[in-house]
Amino acid sequence: MTSAPQLHTGVCVRVPAKVNLELRVGPPRPDGFHSLATVYQAVSLFDTIEVSADRDWGIEVVGRTAAGVPADESNLALRAAHALADAAGIDRPVRIRVTKEIPVAGGMAGGSADAAGALLACHRLWGLDLSPAELAAIAAGLGSDIPFLLAGGTALGGGRGERVVPTATRGTYHWVFALSDEGLSTPAVYAECDRLRGAAPVPQPEPSADLLAALSFGNAEAVADGMGNDLQEAALSMQPALAGVLEAGLSFGALAGIVSGSGPTLAFLCRDAESAIDLAVSLTASGAAADVRKAHGPAAVGPVEVATCR
Ligand code: C5P
Repeated sequence: MTSAPQLHTGVCVRVPAKVNLELRVGPPRPDGFHSLATVYQAVSLFDTIEVSADRDWGIEVVGRTAAGVPADESNLALRAAHALADAAGIDRPVRIRVTKEIPVAGGMAGGSADAAGALLACHRLWGLDLSPAELAAIAAGLGSDIPFLLAGGTALGGGRGERVVPTATRGTYHWVFALSDEGLSTPAVYAECDRLRGAAPVPQPEPSADLLAALSFGNAEAVADGMGNDLQEAALSMQPALAGVLEAGLSFGALAGIVSGSGPTLAFLCRDAESAIDLAVSLTASGAAADVRKAHGPAAVGPVEVATCR
């Protein structure tokens, strides 16, 4: 006899993946991080994070891209819940259930999205009253792109990526993402970037004014012209097969194609929703990419709502 699933009242939130429309990487800092100038956009591939009060702290990870994600104390969502409890001076264990759709180790901030979701959901579950700046400070302590994922949208990132300023954009951007079979380690890609640069002096990174203007006008072609990623060469050097997929995407009509973040996911910007469907079909049918996802941006986080969780 199978027993009915136990139901808890919990809090549930959907958090999107991100792509960096532009990622300019400066020299390494004394703390080992690199100074960045980046333009983030949240896109409509979502992980769902549910938290409910329980006797012990715990986490389970399910969903399409759950394979290989640790369901233990090393999971960033559980670490985020602990960090918030510590900051608030409370000990109220939660059980976290993460339903994953975002590619893992793909340069789309899937782990960071789960951490941001756990912070938002626990903040609500525990009835806390931290300011957005206080939550962002806890998020920044856990990972450079987590502050961005507390709100999503489109934003300029400075510092090591944790200093976020929302940017005005117009319109909807249509994306196709080509997934790789194997992930890339973010620290390894930064290290490869440093290695390829050698001893040449690296200027402090600046965001492109043309890209920000193009976003404010909602001009997808001009946005495509402004896209770029200083980690791309490093990611291609570590997974040379990505170059052929980039070429295929461009030949099938993408406005632009870049490595997403530290890769290896490739992000193709398309003219409109129909072109995105055509590109996704062409990439798959030609065998150029084994697995693709369509999405649009900018996507928002939330809502953070009380829900009945399994
Ligand atoms: O902050 P996050 O945990 O995402 O960073 C993972 C790793 O990526 C860091 O340990 C560092 O090696 C590299 N990184 C960096 N400069 C940044 C962001 C990340 O060197 N601005």
